Amino acid sequence: MSSLYLTEIEKAYGDGRDAALMAKAGEIIKSGGLVAIPTETVYGLAGDALNPLSSKKIYAAKGRPSDNPLIVHIAELEALKPIVKDIPEKAKLLAKKFWPGPLTMIFNKDKRVPAETTGGLDTVAVRMPVNKIALNFIKASGGYIAAPSANASGRPSCTNASHVYEDLNGKIPLIIDGGDVGIGLESTIVDMTGEIPVLLRPGFISHARLEEIIGRVLIDPNVNGAELEEGTKPKAPGMKYKHYAPKGELFIVRGGEQGSIERINSECRAHALKGEASAVICMDAEVEKYTADVVSSLGNTYEDAARNLFRCLREMDEKNIEYMYIRAFEDEGLGMAIMNRLIRAAGHKVIEV
Ligand code: TXA
Ligand code: MG
Repeated sequence: MSSLYLTEIEKAYGDGRDAALMAKAGEIIKSGGLVAIPTETVYGLAGDALNPLSSKKIYAAKGRPSDNPLIVHIAELEALKPIVKDIPEKAKLLAKKFWPGPLTMIFNKDKRVPAETTGGLDTVAVRMPVNKIALNFIKASGGYIAAPSANASGRPSCTNASHVYEDLNGKIPLIIDGGDVGIGLESTIVDMTGEIPVLLRPGFISHARLEEIIGRVLIDPNVNGAELEEGTKPKAPGMKYKHYAPKGELFIVRGGEQGSIERINSECRAHALKGEASAVICMDAEVEKYTADVVSSLGNTYEDAARNLFRCLREMDEKNIEYMYIRAFEDEGLGMAIMNRLIRAAGHKVIEV
């Protein structure tokens, strides 16, 4: 798509100082345009969820396949009922506990929600973000905002406004800059339409926390990176695409600490001999143990790793890194969410040590 807009970036604070900006953004949305916004998870590319033309524009701006449904963002609980067929009891419990927050639930949709927004599905994904700027923006924009992550399709999601600018400059009129996001990975998605809810995408709200509130929650096999059998469709269509991917090749190394570190160092030595640029992405405590062109730390905790992962992958592109290595995270709690993104960023390349 050619450049159509002079893209503005405007700072927001989540309080009264934003009044004029919110009014301006609301006008853009109500007239069918798009605005990029911060949320607590990642930046979103927002349009009017009830306007089919806005949803089409979102797909065009992202370069995203239009069978990949969008999440509808709301700012208050009363907004849920008009867009869904029914609200299961377990969904009410989860909403009470986790909304506003980084949880998306799938419902059977009401006909008010256009097929363009749901990628032709009879279900709709709904989330109420907790970020103040996002909430004020949704209220100023008519109450129903479709917002996929604001990255160009296939790239790592955006955790600050300058990443959005990299991907969408010229394609939208306005980016609202709310600073760095707090969580850094997209929301947890749970399908509430069946008897037993199903976790489709792990996020900051873990499987265990969901089960504390509503009992048994199944985990979709696609979550852990199981390759799809031929002819089967993933429940969250977005999860089938190559995703979060840096330009170079990423490998996940799984095994004991010492063996994994030695293996990664020997791979990087081999790259150096061939004149290839390599990098290791690791936790702070391991930085000194690696020798590569670039050794990049994700911080000290899994929370740090979640917040820094996408930025780190983007920096690898800027540094023209051709091969990247990262040790596997524990596949539970927030680690499950991190591994879910890594598996896709790596195109399923896992080295077992
Ligand atoms: O944290 C988030 O959820 C961010 C911020 C901006 O709110 N949004 C986000 O949207 O991650 P997106 O479009 O990048 O990812 C939405 C995911 C996709 O994998 C999509 O296939 C799935 O949700 N999804 C949406 N509607 C669905 C539905 N009706 N049934 C199953 N999966 C659905
Ligand atoms: Mg996305």
